[in-house]
Amino acid sequence: MELKMISVIGAGAMGSGIAQVSAVAGYQVILQDISDAALDRAKAAINKSLGKMVEKKKMTESDKDETVSRIELTTDMEKACRSADLLIEAVFENLELKRKMFSDFDKFCKPEAIIGSNTSALPITEIASRTKRGDKIIGIHFMNPVPLMKGVEIIPAQLTSDDTVSVVLEYIKKIGKEHIMAVDYAGFIVSRLLDVLMNEAVKLVQEGNKPEEIDKAMVLCAGHPMGPCKLLDLVGAEIAMHGMETMARDFGEFYKPHALLKKRVLAGLLGQKTGKGFYDYQ
Ligand code: CAA
Repeated sequence: MELKMISVIGAGAMGSGIAQVSAVAGYQVILQDISDAALDRAKAAINKSLGKMVEKKKMTESDKDETVSRIELTTDMEKACRSADLLIEAVFENLELKRKMFSDFDKFCKPEAIIGSNTSALPITEIASRTKRGDKIIGIHFMNPVPLMKGVEIIPAQLTSDDTVSVVLEYIKKIGKEHIMAVDYAGFIVSRLLDVLMNEAVKLVQEGNKPEEIDKAMVLCAGHPMGPCKLLDLVGAEIAMHGMETMARDFGEFYKPHALLKKRVLAGLLGQKTGKGFYDYQ
């Protein structure tokens, strides 16, 4: 099966990044969200990111314009489903919402369409369980910031067919990324490791360590590209908290999000997206 049209559901940082890299690779893209404001923010983010690529001479101004013209923004979910050869869901981490949405996707997408989820931690088999096309459902977990991160986790669910995996691997190659195969348990590989690291960093802060020192330690002593407090601000504290909750549900107490992490989420200290986390982005 040849993919031509990629529909992305959810126009947050991840959804807009997925739409962008797909359009850069030449796919026609529909980016859907329920809110016009979210679509406006996505459009601005895509323009800014592509603008940086033009600045760095990684693409020309006319490539940029063509890329943007391949992305259609809409609030019409049925339309996004009907057009898709591959649909990628990138809405927030709520299992019930995703299960409900997947059952709608199943209704509205053409029978041969593949449906992927960009969830960072929820088991794909659970998200897919109300659909009748288990063979065509798969986890496609992009990393933040999507245009810069090379790796994408691919998570076949219990019923995913080999054909679906190979079509999706071809897509990953075409968008210039490398795939990592992960097994369908909460957190897969990346969130299983990174969420624990970030949760532990929050404990270190509660014990009196400064975020700047924790980050400096992991950059200078462990060679990480950014420290865990800065990373938590990048991915969003609520994403790490939900990841930990899902893993605690499936694997036990060890994974429980730290109380301070929950408190920070409740206070809206989510990081870059709210303008304030461990660092100030206003
Ligand atoms: N589009 C285009 N260009 C961008 C960009 C974007 N979205 N974001 C940043 N850039 C550019 C910057 O402008 C900068 O350009 P210059 O070199 O001209 O200044 C360049 O990319 C490098 O960026 P920075 O200077 O800000 O910083 P850096 O060199 O440290 O690289 C990074 C940034 C690639 C994000 C690096 O710090 C890194 O790899 N961090 C770790 C990120 C990570 O672990 N991501 C995964 C998180 S887990 C996840 O996402 C899964 C989940 O579900 C939660």
